[in-house]
Amino acid sequence: MAGRTAIGLDIGTSSVRAAQVTVSKGSPVLERFGQVALPPGVVRDGEVVDADAVAVAIRTLWVQAKFTKKDVVLGVSNQKVVVRLIDLPWMAEDDLRASLKFQVADLVPMPVEEAVLDFIPLEEVVSDSSRLYRGLLVAASQDAVLDAIRAVQKAGLKVATVDLTPFAVLRVAGSADSFGTGGPEAVVDIGAKVTNIIVHEAGIPKFVRILLLGGDDITGAIVEKLGISPVEAEALKRNPAALAEPSAAAARKIVDQALVEFVDEVRGSVDYFVAMSGGRPLSRFVLSGGGSLSDGLAQRLATAVRTPVEYGRPFTQVQIGKTGLSPEQLQYVEPLSAVPVGLAMGAV
Ligand SMILES: Nc1ncnc2c1ncn2[C@@H]1O[C@H](COP(=O)(O)OP(=O)(O)OP(=O)(O)O)[C@@H](O)[C@H]1O
Ligand SMILES: [Mg+2]
Repeated sequence: MAGRTAIGLDIGTSSVRAAQVTVSKGSPVLERFGQVALPPGVVRDGEVVDADAVAVAIRTLWVQAKFTKKDVVLGVSNQKVVVRLIDLPWMAEDDLRASLKFQVADLVPMPVEEAVLDFIPLEEVVSDSSRLYRGLLVAASQDAVLDAIRAVQKAGLKVATVDLTPFAVLRVAGSADSFGTGGPEAVVDIGAKVTNIIVHEAGIPKFVRILLLGGDDITGAIVEKLGISPVEAEALKRNPAALAEPSAAAARKIVDQALVEFVDEVRGSVDYFVAMSGGRPLSRFVLSGGGSLSDGLAQRLATAVRTPVEYGRPFTQVQIGKTGLSPEQLQYVEPLSAVPVGLAMGAV
């Protein structure tokens, strides 16, 4: 008997990626994975700017990776997504959904008619005089979501659900056993232009921040300071040793400076969470995304936040099926797989 199957689709700044996961005998199995590079500028700041170009890449992806279904779970993450901890009066879940729009109108930085809203109850707060739901309010600009859906439709596919990218990343950051009991942890997916930060405790999300920062800022700094092309700067970023000294040292210095600025931003976000939640420090950071592979980033972050920093292993959360990828290819794509695998995992 065939199990449940879902495909997670991640439209990133640099590539479109998808993962097909099937639940077989109770366990999730990765059946297909693929990615296709996007031309520069067609996705900007996490938003689809050129739906036709994105659709072409998605079509190619479907042919190359031989996905067996056409409906997908689509990830969304951009500056027009807001996640906030709020309290709402307790009521039956149906009533809560129906009245959400009216209850949160003052809390979202956009007209509620133009927003896609969701509320994730985390706990009930009961006192003598009140009964409240405390939870995460998610508000996303309808326009930005529709632009991404349009690109998917143009590729001949259908969006079954839309999910928040940070939630997807959390799903594959570890298991109940590995999360431990040491207190809140941060899961950070660093892309080309978008960094998703999600703090959780035992897998339950507590805080989400989406920063418009990523690996491309480091490349951009090299372009600007050395006056070379983005392609050359990208190669140099990944391997400064390819240059002779003193140019290699100059490149390393630019990368270091860009890393300092990046790490400061991430630290600022988590410091805010720590301050807001009573000062309990984070116990660990788990990284994913291409931008996290920048040489020295994990060490710099660990020093700045004085917390252990590890790389996530999304493929330990699934069994690897007949993906057609070699062990070397799987190793290469694993850091890039957190979003699509996590999106699929949320739907199987
Ligand atoms: N080996 C590496 N060393 C350093 N940087 C790398 C490496 N591999 C990828 N990157 C960087 O990772 C970034 C791309 O990451 P990723 O593919 O996760 O982003 P994306 O999902 O396409 O974009 P976003 O999530 O920002 O919309 C680029 O800035 C790229 O330079
Ligand atoms: Mg990404």
